[in-house]
This record gives sequence, C-alpha cells and structure tokens, in this order.
Amino acid sequence: MIAERKDDHVRLAVEQQHGQGGRNQFDEVSFVHHALAGADRPEVSLRTRFAGIEWPVPLYINAMTGGSAKTGVINRDLAIAARETGVPIASGSMSAYFKDPSSADTFAVMRRENPDGFLMANVNATTNVDNARRAVGLLAADALQIHLNTVQETVMPEGDRSFASWVPRIEEIAAGVDVPVIVKEVGFGLSRETVALLGKLGVRVADVGGRGGTNFARIENGRRAGADYAYLDDWGQSTAACLLDSQESGIPLLASGGVRHPLDVARSLALGAAAVGASGGFLKILLDGGVPALVERITTWLDHLAGLMTALGARTPAELARCDVLVHGGLRDFCADRGIDTRRIAQRSGFLSTTDRTTRSTR
Ligand code: FNR
Repeated sequence: MIAERKDDHVRLAVEQQHGQGGRNQFDEVSFVHHALAGADRPEVSLRTRFAGIEWPVPLYINAMTGGSAKTGVINRDLAIAARETGVPIASGSMSAYFKDPSSADTFAVMRRENPDGFLMANVNATTNVDNARRAVGLLAADALQIHLNTVQETVMPEGDRSFASWVPRIEEIAAGVDVPVIVKEVGFGLSRETVALLGKLGVRVADVGGRGGTNFARIENGRRAGADYAYLDDWGQSTAACLLDSQESGIPLLASGGVRHPLDVARSLALGAAAVGASGGFLKILLDGGVPALVERITTWLDHLAGLMTALGARTPAELARCDVLVHGGLRDFCADRGIDTRRIAQRSGFLSTTDRTTRSTR
C-alpha cells in the first residue's frame, strides 16, 4: 500500500511540473537594479553556513521518495546527481522503512552512491525517537528532516487525522537524536509563529516549504475517487511570503517550494534563506533525461546563481540578504497585514554609502 502510494506521488507530482514557465509568488519579488554594484566573479563564493552546518553551495535536492522498487532507483539516481554536483540531498519519508524493513535498501542506496555527501534522513512528526535514530543510522545521515503535512494528510484518503501530538514529538526527537533537526513543510508554508515555536522545541533549522510548486493537496485529491477537495488548491503561504514573515524568527531558514530557476534561488537567499531546495522540478528532469540531464541542470543553476550574485555585488549568499529588494502585488498586501516593513527591505543595502567609501579608499 505504501509502495503504491510512493509511486502515485511520483507520477502525480511529475504531471504537475511546468518547468520555468509557471507563475508563482516569487514573481512578486524583484531586485532593485544598481548598475554599478557589480563584483568580480572570482570574489564570489557560494559557500553557506548556518546552525553549525557548512555547505559548499546554497542549493539542495529536497525530500522526495523511497519505499518501492521504482523509487529506490530514483533515490539512487538523485544521490548520484548530488554526488556529481556536490549538492546536499534529503531522502523521502522513511515511514515505509519502519513498516517494512525490507525496503531499507531503497533509502540506503543514497549513502552507498554518495558516501561523502551531506545526506538528510526524513521522518514524519509521529515518529518515535527510536525510529528517528534508526532513520539517521540507516543513512549515516548528517541531519534529520521532520516533515509537517496536516493538509496533505487531510486530503489523503488513508491519511492521519490526529495532529495534536506533533509538538511534543518534535521536542522529543530534537532532544533524542545526535544530528541537527530540520523541520519542513511539504508545500503549504510555515508561519512565523510556527517557526518561533520550532525554535523553542530545540529544532535547529526551519525549511519553510511554501506554496507555489508541487502541490500535495492536488496530488492527494488526484488519488481520491471524487477529487472533491479541489477547493484547497490555493491553501497556505508562498515560499516568498514565509521568508518575509519569518525574518526575525530566531532560527536559520531554508527555502523550498516552487523554486523554478536560479533567479528564484537568488530571491530566496535575498529574503533570508541560508540555502534553497528543489524537488518536483528536479525529479521531472531526472525522469525525462536521466542523471546527465539533472547534473547539467544543477551545474547550470549554480553557474547562473554565481553570475547573478556577481552582477548584484553579493560576494556570499549572506550578502545577497543585504541587497535592495522590491515586493509587489499580493505579497505586498500580505506584508502590510503581517506588519512587515517592505520599505526597509527596498532600501537596506546602503549602496551609495558603500560606494562612497570604496571611492575614497582607492583615491
Ligand atoms: C515530496 N515531498 C516530500 N517531503 C517530505 O518531507 N517527505 C516526503 O516523503 C516527500 N515526498 C515527496 C514526493 C514527491 C514526488 C515530491 C515531488 C515531493 C515534498 C518536497 O520535499 C517539497 O517540500 C515540495 O515538493 C515542494 O517543493 P517543489 O517540488 O515545489 O520544489
């Protein structure tokens, strides 16, 4: 049953991918163009540091799959692409492994193919500490993701209907495993209140997992005979909205959900993410063109990202978060209602004063 569901998720998620052309709320974020802000490309480093973690690049392949023969092959290929490009990677939910230990290799293959990479295990928020440790152990994982997915469970015909235990469970897991715990949504977003609570529970990093890309309300609705939950298609906060909402949240943020191209990566970093994840889009490229196509896509994204940073004068991902950014449309309304000062973000770089200093020092 679980194995079948995992295969359904892959098929329905891939059908949803519109490549770089689909629109989402990242389109309501733009950089103020400063024509003299540029840096020199050799000065630009993609290295990112957060919560005691250091990654060579601020891009990762986010959680997807495992648990069936077919998804084991996908995990193998994703892990090879991660190894070849140096990007961190997460496994899909390991519940299938807890229910059927014979599926272990559909996950463990990721570590075998990528022995030195940064690998994240993934569990749900009902997992007990022993199983959380088993998941980390099976992958020799460098971090543990816990996914939050109340809306997905609600639409899923066979989904959970009990969510109240999630808060104490997350606290137990965070205290009980010896790797950093990252809590993520699966595409409906984390509010600033949720991120603040996660910090209090001992969670080290929050992946906002916002709306705008793969939509698990639609995926689960597609698995229902009557497809009667179509009205939930727009539920949740976009990834850009979540990042703006949680600027002062206290724990480092990762961004995922609807990241379509390198500009969305740059926008996410500018809105405060320490790194940016993509799932469904990468999966479609892998299934259409195999490992070489995914390696090529990730390499191109990293090259373009460094190029955009050079033009913006951001030498590190953290410096991108000091660039002037404009917020438009519905996202601006969201910021107004949540008390987020968009004027400050539009004028924060102090670009002219920095230029003045540089001019004086080289005179
Ligand atoms: C996912 N996602 C996911 N997340 C998670 O934490 N555990 C999981 O098992 C899965 N399974 C899964 C399967 C498939 C086929 C896809 C495409 C995605 C959610 C994923 O990590 C991410 O949060 C969302 O897909 C949004 O990102 P994209 O796809 O818009 O880049």
